[in-house]
Amino acid sequence: MDRILIRGGRRLSGRVPISGAKNAALTLMPCAILTDEPLTLRNLPRLADVDGFGHLLNQLGASTAVEGARAGEFGRVMTVRAGRIASTEAPYDIVRKMRASILVLGPILAREGRARVSLPGGCAIGNRPIDLHLKALEAIGAELEFTAGYVEARAPSGGRLPGGRFAFPVVSVGATENALMAAATARGTTLLENAAQEPEIVDLCRCLVAMGARIDGIGTGRLEVAGVDRLHGATYAVMPDRIEAGSYACAAVVTGGDLMLAGADPADMGATIAGLRQLGATVEEGPEGLRVAMEGRPRPIELSTAPYPGFATDMQAQFMAALALADGASVLTETIFENRYMHVPELARMGADVRVSGRTAVVRGVGELTGAPVMATDLRASMSLVLAGLAARGETQVARVYHLDRGYERLEEKLGAVGADIERVSDG
Ligand code: UD1
Repeated sequence: MDRILIRGGRRLSGRVPISGAKNAALTLMPCAILTDEPLTLRNLPRLADVDGFGHLLNQLGASTAVEGARAGEFGRVMTVRAGRIASTEAPYDIVRKMRASILVLGPILAREGRARVSLPGGCAIGNRPIDLHLKALEAIGAELEFTAGYVEARAPSGGRLPGGRFAFPVVSVGATENALMAAATARGTTLLENAAQEPEIVDLCRCLVAMGARIDGIGTGRLEVAGVDRLHGATYAVMPDRIEAGSYACAAVVTGGDLMLAGADPADMGATIAGLRQLGATVEEGPEGLRVAMEGRPRPIELSTAPYPGFATDMQAQFMAALALADGASVLTETIFENRYMHVPELARMGADVRVSGRTAVVRGVGELTGAPVMATDLRASMSLVLAGLAARGETQVARVYHLDRGYERLEEKLGAVGADIERVSDG
């Protein structure tokens, strides 16, 4: 298994190209199921999860053709063509490894009138049930049955979904995405209230509109979808990854560096930018992207995660790495997922002083972190350990690199190019 080796203490400076957003890619790819015409996605990040989703689409009978990046570009172009759906099932083996596979449920059901998808089971960052996905689909007219660890969804008489109205009791990104895709070709109109407003949802809506969907209220929590008879193919560019950009912004903070996050879209990053400024970073928005510079130790802050436009739960672990070095005590509150502090014991091995009580973490900044062998159990937690390693004295080894490969395109290359001493080592 690969490990990442970091010799910390180097100031980072230069330009980091920001890739297409993983979480947008994973909801744009299943849109291809909704049409028999090709959907071409540009600026797709080169990530294990994107490859995994491609394989799932292949299993369903869609073809995927990937062109490499053009010179000077990171993003890839993928054309997905689901001329016909050969299988309406997403099997356990795939869903187990990649939770986002659940996002094929809505589109397969809309296209074929039936779908069978494995229940994802537990997940490292809390229980993560899919009850809201299912309730929203039921409200749009799906009939559900559970057998042998699978959910089977059907449209009445195997035809088109009628459409309907659903008010989400809790904001859910994935459930909103599934419902939107299912509603796009329904017979009637669907109203989604308290829908997620994340920029990735806006990206999904824009792609669906490019395919012929009719959606009102894009960017708000009240989405009205007037079902259309059919969707057509389209070419769509995936939005920049706001979480990747925020993670590299934290790399500038912890190393007292100066990074230009090329291609980042500040419009999607309000809460992160506000947080960075509170930490003491200088953040400048320009035509090329976002410049983040830092001098001295971070200032302590209070932060609570919340659905967009609040502070993203996917940025919590990276901010904690910065706060571990702050000049005072900070308070972080995680309101989205239970059990999302699994980076804490690992950061502690590097000298961080963090006390967790329920959903709250008190982080008492220390003057210095020290390198250590560490491992994490999820993607963003792994990134927080990389950040701590960049700042730490001595050598840090981050194990279980496959977590990072799920969400950070060419991590070592990007960090190495701006001055980090970082390499990937393989144990053979
Ligand atoms: C997506 C993102 C993930 C991010 C999260 C919150 C993708 C592939 N992943 O995950 O990176 O951290 O949004 O911004 O886009 N919930 C239920 N029932 C459900 C669905 C969710 O109770 O059916 C709960 C979850 O347990 C959680 C909360 O709702 O507490 C929010 O989860 P949700 O927004 O659905 O996250 P994901 O879509 O899984």
